[in-house]
Amino acid sequence: MTKIFAHRGASKYTPENTMPAFELAYAMHADGIETDIQLTKDQIPVIIHDEHVKRTTNGTGYIKDFTYQQLLQLDAGSWFSNKFSGTSILSLDTFLQWAKDKSLSLNIELKNNKIDYLHIEAIAYEMIDYYQLLNRTILSSFNPSSIKRMKHFSNKVHVAFLTSSRNKKLVTAAKELGATDLHINYRLLNRSLAAQCRQINMPLRVYTVNKMYRISKCLHNKCSGLFTDVPDQALAFREQQINKGVLE
Ligand code: G3P
Ligand code: CA
Repeated sequence: MTKIFAHRGASKYTPENTMPAFELAYAMHADGIETDIQLTKDQIPVIIHDEHVKRTTNGTGYIKDFTYQQLLQLDAGSWFSNKFSGTSILSLDTFLQWAKDKSLSLNIELKNNKIDYLHIEAIAYEMIDYYQLLNRTILSSFNPSSIKRMKHFSNKVHVAFLTSSRNKKLVTAAKELGATDLHINYRLLNRSLAAQCRQINMPLRVYTVNKMYRISKCLHNKCSGLFTDVPDQALAFREQQINKGVLE
């Protein structure tokens, strides 16, 4: 069955990539959580989508130029709604501690396609290993060089190549990089690609799927997972399809 991942947490209803977004996704019974990490000046992996803090905090500047302690002073909730003021940026460590005793799949996306943070792969891997979460985590990246660098631990953790590029040989390209999984923009999903992935047992997941007809397409193509800002709606739709007997 297609797993439903809350994209940046339940990000339609709460400030993305924050504890309220993750708590809500868990309360909604999402199968998994997708999140993004960047590295601070002192090499701490933190949960935030953009390289710059401007869009989702009350601060300004690049993550790479802040220490983790400095980042903690920023408000990462009030841009979304005053209801969330006082929400802070999370470290990956805090997120993993929170996830440890919850039956959630995790997708940690390394945001290293614009800034190629040195050692981000090993830093993330070691932390996930420390929390014994390798068996339910997928590491992903849009950066092909980063996927190659993760090849040596792809026997211990899923490594997904993320792409929005149309390429007839996408599966071969992902395999050649050493990826175990493929994460695609919803525009790239078609029956042939889904069948190819199933044939070679390469999990295929689709982002960011918010419209019901697109969610339906992922479910009916038996994708391994989909990423959505509205996990509640996707879960209800999946259940309805199962109850109708049109999905196994
Ligand atoms: O990991 C899937 C998806 O999150 C990739 O796009 O920009 O939302 O991180 P973006
Ligand atoms: Ca992401």
